[in-house]
Amino acid sequence: MYEKLNDLLINLCRAISTRKLYFEGHPKVQSLASEFMSQMRDFCEIANMDKLFIGVNEGNIVFEGKNLVGPSIVGKQLVLFTEKLRCGGFSISRETTEQEFGLFLDLTTELQKPLESILKARELLVERNITTIEIAQQYIAPSGPMIKDEQAVWQGQDSASFFQSPTLIYQALFDTVAQAHGEVAEGGDIDIDNTRSVSEYMLHFTRTHFSDLMQHVHYPDYDSYTVGHSVRVAALAVFFANSHGWNEELLLSIATAGLLHDIGKSMIPDEILFKPGKLNVEEFSEMTAHAQLGAEILLGHQNTTPLDIAAAWGHHIRHDGKGYPQQPPWATRHPLTSLLQICDTFEALTAARPYKPSVTPYLAFCIMLKDKNCFHPNLLASFISTVGIFPPGNNVLLSDGRKGVVIATGHRIGRPRIKITQDQGGESIPIGDQYLVDLSAPYAADLNVQELLLNTNKGLVAG
Ligand SMILES: [Fe+2]
Ligand SMILES: [Fe+2]
Repeated sequence: MYEKLNDLLINLCRAISTRKLYFEGHPKVQSLASEFMSQMRDFCEIANMDKLFIGVNEGNIVFEGKNLVGPSIVGKQLVLFTEKLRCGGFSISRETTEQEFGLFLDLTTELQKPLESILKARELLVERNITTIEIAQQYIAPSGPMIKDEQAVWQGQDSASFFQSPTLIYQALFDTVAQAHGEVAEGGDIDIDNTRSVSEYMLHFTRTHFSDLMQHVHYPDYDSYTVGHSVRVAALAVFFANSHGWNEELLLSIATAGLLHDIGKSMIPDEILFKPGKLNVEEFSEMTAHAQLGAEILLGHQNTTPLDIAAAWGHHIRHDGKGYPQQPPWATRHPLTSLLQICDTFEALTAARPYKPSVTPYLAFCIMLKDKNCFHPNLLASFISTVGIFPPGNNVLLSDGRKGVVIATGHRIGRPRIKITQDQGGESIPIGDQYLVDLSAPYAADLNVQELLLNTNKGLVAG
């Protein structure tokens, strides 16, 4: 039951973040809203409840007196919304219609500042014909302040196990970037500290579970591709830098700079950002302004670092100094910006977009190598050997019919280590029985990766 609640709340937070990014009738907003409502009704049915009460206390999401660690980290948007409504939580009824829930979601973007009081918030709900969603006074724990252990524990999950959940890490990263873009589009401020703390989660996780994270971040999603793209770029850059022993401080800078590198796109109109066809000259020039705009936005924030600003400014500047924005010939740049430029291009090539299909990593590397002087040559060579032509997190089909997920690049490029998840007969292997095959090892000399199974439901032939 608690697992369902976890998913439910994460979807609610996701619906709020998405509503901040897109207009009310956008299919993405509608599908998340109806998914949430149907999950909510199922949950109420199982729990035998007429309404679901979600509390917020001291910045944490609370259910039945317990802090929910995962949703609290992910659900910053939900917490901020309750602060604006001056309430300690709200209940959604099984009777709540999708239309009513949609009106409630609209308020999450409309309310710029906290209301005067909870009474004003209640008046506003009535004014908007929201009658089955009720807001509650500030939450008071039934048995006084919660003790530290209880605060950290939710259904056996403490914050350490949060680090082991790729879904939650990905959702937290996605939510942070979506929130930053949403705030900037509305003229608000980016929560840089929150971005940095989520970056820290990513660092911890990437050290041990990069392939798990990449399985999540590899999903191309047209509607949210700026957000998903930023998360993937950051994850790739952290993976590379971590594999090369870059220090902790620099790793944190890379993660944050990667997450925010395209923040300038929040100022670019959707019609240009999501145009399915080729951009005309004016549109292209408007689009290219995002690099400078991003640097300007970050310059206006106190807690950003010069590296964050340099990455936003320079991630479309080539190694030979061409590209955009124009820079003076004497300018030099930090390896972090050069690395993000590589990750940015690689991600853009290997992800599907409304106007183009994805290409395999192998083809992406061919394209990048062909463009002489575009990338820092040593960094590009290291990047290729680190990420490999079957990057961790990708699903592959082996020449003997087994399927698996790439865990690590392996000693030889093109011969990664694979966790076998499906046998030759097409049967899924239970998690506990899955095993590793190292294609670089002598025992696997006769085996090959036959196909890279990208998450677009279309397999692409390896190479
Ligand atoms: Fe960009
Ligand atoms: Fe980018």
